[in-house]
Amino acid sequence: MGLALLLPTLLAAFPGMRAEQIFTNRGTLSGLETQTEHNGELKESTSSFFDQPPALLMTQTFDPSYTGRYHSEVHIPNAYRHGDTRFYGFAFRLPPDWQFDPPQSYNLAQFIAPFDKCDSFMPSTMFWAEGTRLFTRAKSGSVCDQTTKKFPLEGVTLTAGDWHTVIIGASWKSNATGFLQVWLDGKQVLDKRNVATTVAEDVPFQFRVGLYANGWHDDKGMKGSQGFRQVFYDKVAIATTKDEADPEKW
Ligand SMILES: *[C@@H]1O[C@H](CO)[C@@H](O)[C@H](O)[C@H]1NC(C)=O
Repeated sequence: MGLALLLPTLLAAFPGMRAEQIFTNRGTLSGLETQTEHNGELKESTSSFFDQPPALLMTQTFDPSYTGRYHSEVHIPNAYRHGDTRFYGFAFRLPPDWQFDPPQSYNLAQFIAPFDKCDSFMPSTMFWAEGTRLFTRAKSGSVCDQTTKKFPLEGVTLTAGDWHTVIIGASWKSNATGFLQVWLDGKQVLDKRNVATTVAEDVPFQFRVGLYANGWHDDKGMKGSQGFRQVFYDKVAIATTKDEADPEKW
């Protein structure tokens, strides 16, 4: 068999060899669908960035008279379907004065899809901070009967004022044959294998990055005294290999 014939066979046998960046963004808003609720804002900023300006700057402001949710996110469509194995990378930075105590949940990235029954929008995996700890989760079952597993990221103490890199690697399966992995600042902090990572419904999920101050809504109020919150984002990528999603490597 000649190389031209052999190559597709090899690629099919080793899908990891088909390296591909499916999506990249260097901190610009153009071409992105955005969502800002209440007093949330999305901007391009040159005051801080990962390697070159601009970066995205997501803000939210607490309002005690408002009872809705607090999303300030950008949406990347078609981020996964059943059977996909993909890596999602981004860099983020909390401002130096970020208040960690008392801990409350601030979501920083999530996968979500619209549904026409039981839930209008259902997030599957989320990635969030509570104080200086970081967490992710896997959702399985079905949209009408959801099972959620929460995973603390091992050995992580989140710091403010520094850029951090995140890579989420997932094999999206509704039975126990998937995986969910996370790297923070180049170090692996989660490796869950042989787990279900999504619900039975095979619909296209979005990947969203941004500040979603979900604790303010879910806890029916803000903890602490920092009602104005900002998070910077840069170098967002979706790829079929970990390296191509890594903000340090593209
Ligand atoms: C898991 O689901 C996949 C895709 O639907 C299927 O091909 C596979 O046989 C299932 N594996 C197990 C162990 O049930």
